[in-house]
Amino acid sequence: MIHIENVRKTFQDLQVLKGVSLSVNEHEIYGIIGQSGAGKSTLLRCINGLESFDEGEITVDNTRLSSLNRKDLRLLQKRMGMIFQGFNLLERLDVYHNIALPMKFWGINPSSSEAEKKIRELTGLVGLEDKLHAKPRELSGGQKQRVAIARALVLDPEFLLCDEATSALDPEITKGILALIQKINKEMGITIVIVTHQMEVVKQVCERVAFLNNGTVLREGRPEELFVKPERKEIRDFLREGSENLPKYGVNIQLFFNGENNMDPTVTDMARTLDTNFSICWAKLEDFRDDVYGSLVINVDEKDRERVLNFLNERKILWEVLP
Ligand SMILES: Nc1ncnc2c1ncn2[C@@H]1O[C@H](COP(=O)(O)OP(=O)(O)O)[C@@H](O)[C@H]1O
Ligand SMILES: [Mg+2]
Repeated sequence: MIHIENVRKTFQDLQVLKGVSLSVNEHEIYGIIGQSGAGKSTLLRCINGLESFDEGEITVDNTRLSSLNRKDLRLLQKRMGMIFQGFNLLERLDVYHNIALPMKFWGINPSSSEAEKKIRELTGLVGLEDKLHAKPRELSGGQKQRVAIARALVLDPEFLLCDEATSALDPEITKGILALIQKINKEMGITIVIVTHQMEVVKQVCERVAFLNNGTVLREGRPEELFVKPERKEIRDFLREGSENLPKYGVNIQLFFNGENNMDPTVTDMARTLDTNFSICWAKLEDFRDDVYGSLVINVDEKDRERVLNFLNERKILWEVLP
């Protein structure tokens, strides 16, 4: 649905996107994650044509962005709703008229019965039926973001682009907004791209994710794959898997588990079978949409290295010797 191929973008002397390639499928929830300054917002702005790019190509629904004139670009932008961290509501307008803003922009009378029907339907969807005439200052952060979501949907877009949409909200409110985004994806079939620096967000809703680091995609895949096998130091560090606190002696081995092969039995079994001692230096378990995944770092004696790795291979457990 959205294909990004080798996109490069430079601001003055700063190369912000260094050949980014990724693909978003129709109807999926796709995450773009990475640290602040990685180039996520710039990439998202390139997707909806708010920002131009220097090289490469972005194709949306078989239309090449670089080939569009201003008018056609505007028509494409109409098919993409967008929400931001800061909500961007107009204080002087009530909820109804904030949601109606894109209609006014496209010459649709917000007081027409058709417009009113649409706006009432959307306030119902986002759970703000009773706030139609409230001003933004009377709303909580979560409610403001709900208004922004309704506004983003008012022209029936096929895409919803979200830039750090939950980064200003506390965890409980974030859950509600993410549930709403999932509902919009399922019930309305809208393709969603979520830009975030929060792994929690990706874990909860994204079907696939790209890890963007310093203008480059280091990894694209299912979020659980990224977690279960981060592969790159940059990704491990991002997931707070830095190895600074691991022992400097022996061999540190990181094991990865998914829901099917549980951590505990394997580890006790290994100790028993190999009759060896090792220490567990670090462990964590995480929920991904429907499944639990775990990772564990053990420290073994250099002399046990081969036996332990053979054991893990026999049990088909993913492992990595940490540098
Ligand atoms: N309009 C701009 N002019 C100059 N530099 C910019 C502009 N927009 C973003 N940048 C720079 O590009 C880099 C990536 O920014 P951004 O895409 O906002 O990253 P992210 O969203 O991942 O935090 C940053 O170093 C930022 O300062
Ligand atoms: Mg950003």
